[in-house]
Order: sequence, then structure tokens, then C-alpha cells
Amino acid sequence: MKRSSNYRHAPVQSRPNVPPPASAPLVYLDNAATSFPKPPEVVRETARALAEYGGNPGRGSHALSRRAAEKVGEARELAAQIFGASKPENVVFTHNATEALNMAIFSATKNGGHVLISDIEHNSVYRPVSKLASDGKIALEIYPSVGSSENIVRGIAERIRNDTVLVVACHKSNIVPITLPINEIGALCRDRGIKFVVDASQSAGNTDIDIKKCSAWAICAPGHKGLCGPQGVGLLVFGENARISEIEPFYFGGSGPSSFEREMPNVLPHRMEAGTLPTPAIAGLCEGMKYVIERTPSDIGRHESALVEYTKSELSKLPRVKIYMFSEKGAGVFLFNVDGISCQELAHYLDGRGICVRSGLHCAPLAHRRVGSYNSGGGVRVSFGPFSVRGDADRLILAIRELVIQK
Ligand code: ALA
Repeated sequence: MKRSSNYRHAPVQSRPNVPPPASAPLVYLDNAATSFPKPPEVVRETARALAEYGGNPGRGSHALSRRAAEKVGEARELAAQIFGASKPENVVFTHNATEALNMAIFSATKNGGHVLISDIEHNSVYRPVSKLASDGKIALEIYPSVGSSENIVRGIAERIRNDTVLVVACHKSNIVPITLPINEIGALCRDRGIKFVVDASQSAGNTDIDIKKCSAWAICAPGHKGLCGPQGVGLLVFGENARISEIEPFYFGGSGPSSFEREMPNVLPHRMEAGTLPTPAIAGLCEGMKYVIERTPSDIGRHESALVEYTKSELSKLPRVKIYMFSEKGAGVFLFNVDGISCQELAHYLDGRGICVRSGLHCAPLAHRRVGSYNSGGGVRVSFGPFSVRGDADRLILAIRELVIQK
């Protein structure tokens, strides 16, 4: 039966214009979307969870449920360690960072009020707060991410009102090297009694983050990006300053313990974890976090940003190449365009050369407006990961060189 729908997936680039040489492996430069490849232990443990301990964690006292629960508990402890949380119970497993952000934002604004978000937020923040604002539940304002840390904090301080209940900060932009000073913003929020939520989607795993130092009410992160886990798991980590009475359940249902109660339990993580957890993804994430802890986030961050600086410097020697925020440093990601070709065509061309990048607006229209790429329909984003090597950068540089010099 023919079905009609207005829904369209993003176009599938099924006919690359230049087939990759048979011998050349694909070059993956889209780690800001999801990290790839994963450490081999992540792949093994995800499979092992399915094959060897496929019980439902916290939903029984038999051996396989207990083994699954032990692995989930181990992952919770590692996540608490990575984010400096005072106890593992403050770590809530979600399905992704977007879900964690929705849970934090809706909870922090349950009584309405004024909300400040930065001008580089991803749609995972912009859309939930826009929905709340258009429903008349909150007043929304955007603060600029321009200038020094002091400038940014001053810009927030100037906008704080008597009814400000929440400040959200995207720790690292998903398109350009902008990092918000979360420790300083957090201190301001703490002094003014305002909840502070950090979107660590692009920083978790490549930057040291301490929930106590940044005084965050909550930190939200994906498991499948810098923490090297599989897709299907995210993290909502509550700070010491988050009181259980302020934490509003987002989903309602079975939570394991306290089944006799009609309401969600009054304890973390159960209050926020309704329904079966994605145990195989959590098991894989557990190994991903071990990898990150052993290598250290700062080493991974240095590795990625060194590759960015090398690539930017080589590309900047070529004609027609425009790199946004060229002189900013300290990120594993950068954004560029080539004059005379759309970013979609450029990504399509690179795909034909076996190079995986993401083009367009990257679900971050605010950030593209901020950096001046919005009116070009966005740009091509290059994002390195823990396993990227200089040869990956060289393949990209060569492909762009051949494009701009031939055309
Ligand atoms: N948020 C992810 C990105 O930036 C998917 O591509």
C-alpha cells in the first residue's frame, strides 16, 4: 500500500561523483556527530552484555539480572568519577544528551520564570526552551558568547532578573572552537541562587569537567561521542546542590524498587529512570569511559585540537577556502566553506573521495548565526576523534587542494 508522508529524511548521498580508490579506507571526520571507531573493548562488552548477561538490571534478583545490574552500577561509578559527582546515584542514564537536556530543562523550569541560554546552543536546548517560551511558561533570553570569559559572565550578569531560574551553557560548540567558561558562569549562578545546566555534548571525554567546580545543577552528555560508548545512552548528572524536591520526573513507570508507590520514588537515580535501561549500550559505555579515564580527557583534547590546527593551517594556504573563527584554538572541530560550491555539494564531493563529514546547519542554527555561516546555509564541519591520525587530515587537505586547484 502506498503511504504518503510529509516526512523526509536528509538526502542520501548514494551516487558519489568520484568513487574512492578500492584500496583506500574511509576517513571518518564526523566525531562531533558520533565518535567512530570505538575502542575494541566497547564493541566486545556491548556484545558480551547481549550474549552473556542479558537480564534486566534492577528488575529481579536472579543471577542474570544481578550481573546486568553490576555492570550498570560500574558504569554509574565511572560516570560519577568523570564528572566529579559526589555519589554514583546522582548519575541518571538517559537515551541520549537531548533527552537529558529536556529532563533537566523541564525540571528546572517547572514553576516558570526567566531562562538564559547562550547564542551557540544546539537545538537540543533551543527547541525545548522555545517550546516552553511559546507556551507562555517561561521568558527566554539569549546571552552572547563573544569576547573574554569576563565579558561573557558580565553579559549573563547584566541579563539576570529577579525571576531568573535557569542559565544553560553549551560547554563547547558543535561547529567551531568556542568554549564557554562554565566554572565562572557556575559561580555567578551559585551566588545568585540560579540553577545552572551544562550541555557537555561536545566536551565530555575531551575536556576535564568537575560538577563541583562548575557548580552545575546538572550536566548533560551523550554516551556515544567523546565518552566512546555506543549510541543509545546518555547521561544526566546532578550536582550536590540539586535537591530531590526540585527534580521533576519526566517519564513515569516502573523503576524497580518501591513498586507499591503510585508516584515515582523520591530517590535518585530511580526518580528519573522509568522503564528498562539500555543495558548493552551502558555496558559498552562503561568500557568507553575506562578508555577515556586511562588516556585522560585532556590528552584526547590535545590530540584532537593539534589535528584541527594542522588541517586549518594547510587549508588556509589554499584559494577560495574560508575557515570560520580561524584564530580560535582548543577544539577538535572546525567549520569551513569553499567559495563557489555549496556546503552540501562539498560534503558530497568529499564523500565521493571516501571522506565522511557533516554539512549544513548541524542542528545548531543559533551557532551558525553567531559565526556568520547561517546565510550560506551553514558549512562543512570537520571533527576529529581520539583515533584520528594525521593521514586523515592529509586525505582531506589533498581532496580540497584538488578541488580548488582544478576548478
Ligand atoms: N549533535 C550532533 C552533531 O552536532 C549530532 O552533529
